[in-house]
Amino acid sequence: MSLSEHYHTVRKKTETICSYLHTEDYIPQPVDFVSPPKWHLAHSTWFFETFLLTPYLPDYRVYNDDFGFLFNSYYNNVGKRVFRATRGNITRPSVAEVYSYRQYVDMHMDLLLQLKSGDATVHELIELGLQHEQQHQELLVTDIKYILGGNPIFPVYSEDINWEADQNKTSGFVTIPEGIYEIGHGGNGFSFDNEHGRHKVFLHEFTIANTLVTNAEYLEFINADGYSNFNYWLDEGWSWVTENKIDAPLYWYNVEGEWHNYTLAGLQKVDPDAIVTHISFYEAAAYAEWKHMRLPTEFEWETAAAQLDWGKRWEWTHSAYLPYPGFAKPDGALGEYNGKFMINKMVLRGASCATPKGHSRTTYRNFFHAAERWQFTGIRLVKL
Ligand code: AVJ
Ligand code: FE
Repeated sequence: MSLSEHYHTVRKKTETICSYLHTEDYIPQPVDFVSPPKWHLAHSTWFFETFLLTPYLPDYRVYNDDFGFLFNSYYNNVGKRVFRATRGNITRPSVAEVYSYRQYVDMHMDLLLQLKSGDATVHELIELGLQHEQQHQELLVTDIKYILGGNPIFPVYSEDINWEADQNKTSGFVTIPEGIYEIGHGGNGFSFDNEHGRHKVFLHEFTIANTLVTNAEYLEFINADGYSNFNYWLDEGWSWVTENKIDAPLYWYNVEGEWHNYTLAGLQKVDPDAIVTHISFYEAAAYAEWKHMRLPTEFEWETAAAQLDWGKRWEWTHSAYLPYPGFAKPDGALGEYNGKFMINKMVLRGASCATPKGHSRTTYRNFFHAAERWQFTGIRLVKL
């Protein structure tokens, strides 16, 4: 596929995800960590405008002078911006105008692709812009789920999309011998800066599950009063459970004694064979403790990955999101992309049912705070 075809395929996919929405669904921001779908559509477009068109397309004029302020996410080097928690107040520009903005930028990106067809730097930045847009495609799905899931009538996003029904296709455990292993991206394809600084680690022998924890297995933890026994919980996790009165995964509702969960296909009875999802790191760690097992480190996960069935849920590791030895953040604004978030977050490995095909890889490092569970997260265990 040519870069131009790749560009248009990815851009179109974002709009396909939104094609199931009603106009009103594009606007709300129910909590600070969820962004309105309209904001995602505009922000991913702003990324191409800011990092490609303005610096590399001669005489380019930005679509609207206010959009930098409205749709810059967190790049201090690029300038001032709206406070994150007020993205839901941006009722103007309209949804229609944001779609026009996408068209305007796509048209100019076609010009840039023609003009700079031999420019390696431009090609690399376009690839980054597309990988960025794919990250936002996943966030769009999970943010849409959160927005619709907060509606008391539990609207159906699409009857055809019931990813929550994903089941394990394997069974058992895999043992990896002790040894020195290489960690981090070494190959030729695209990778994010946080995968760089390939380096060696020593691992003791470990035995890792080839499956992810299912709803039936997680229900045993709930029924064993796992949420009310502090012995299973990390200290912060126990505070989180008690302060927020957590007693089940996100989107679970006990309806007359029967567990239901909100899915993109609507409110359904919890499917015992489906892989559990919408689990915080705290819950994953407590479940592992109750099972007399543990979570893998990100290094164990990466080393075992070639032998594992992965890709349905983001898998919490018990590794803090830290720079690899030799990591250096890129110069300029794009140095803010990943490096500055290497504080107070845990690494997740794998990919989820909402991750665009081919976007992740065994060295990919996703990262969220331990309490966050609106992504399609899950649990893989390691024997003690
Ligand atoms: C890798 C999913 C944690 O949500 O901030 C989007 C992805 N980076 N725009 C995030 C991202 C820049 C990132 N995560
Ligand atoms: Fe972004």
